[in-house]
Amino acid sequence: MRGRIPMSQTDPLYPDGEPKLAVDGPVRTIVLHENACLIRSGEDLTDTGETERCFYMEQVEPMLQAGMQFLCDEGAAIGCFESRYMRVLDERNRPTDRTFGMSWWRDLSALEEWAAGHPSHLKIYGSGMKHLSTFGPETRLRLYHEVTVPAANEQRFVYVGCHDRTGLLRAFG
Ligand code: HEM
Repeated sequence: MRGRIPMSQTDPLYPDGEPKLAVDGPVRTIVLHENACLIRSGEDLTDTGETERCFYMEQVEPMLQAGMQFLCDEGAAIGCFESRYMRVLDERNRPTDRTFGMSWWRDLSALEEWAAGHPSHLKIYGSGMKHLSTFGPETRLRLYHEVTVPAANEQRFVYVGCHDRTGLLRAFG
């Protein structure tokens, strides 16, 4: 993940500065510091057959759901400011076989630490490896990561009349 970001060759991409909150009546605007990090981590079951789909739904998805719930409820303590587990809808708003977790982190290293050592991702990791070793080359489950480290002037979050636990507001009050 880190190695695919060209700038990481010369820059550790540590967080720099503090998140800023500006309040203007009902409008609250958050701008994160330099090197905050966004990950969209997707799962696509579209091409799986019944056996593989059942395995995923019974063995992997519950781990994923628990891990996403952990990030949502307790992530702030480990540098995950906000996290959502989402399902893609089709053009008629019907649920598809594609889901993704989307989360904002203090920086790449906070995300790496969670992925490498926290029980909630290790359980996802373990069940995912079991899935891949069970189906081998027949695996049709697709997994992907999209990771971005935007400059401070490339992100801005505007909340109008929202409750205090909406999105990034929950991390910064
Ligand atoms: C079914 C869902 C998932 C499975 C099966 C899974 C499995 C794995 C596995 C096997 C690895 C090790 C890859 C390697 O060593 O090359 C890994 C790494 C990682 N995962 Fe997950 N994961 C899942 C969901 C997620 C989610 C939702 C997130 C974040 C919100 C996430 C974040 C990461 C990160 C940051 C790494 C390290 C990547 C790197 O440093 O290159 N994963 N995952």
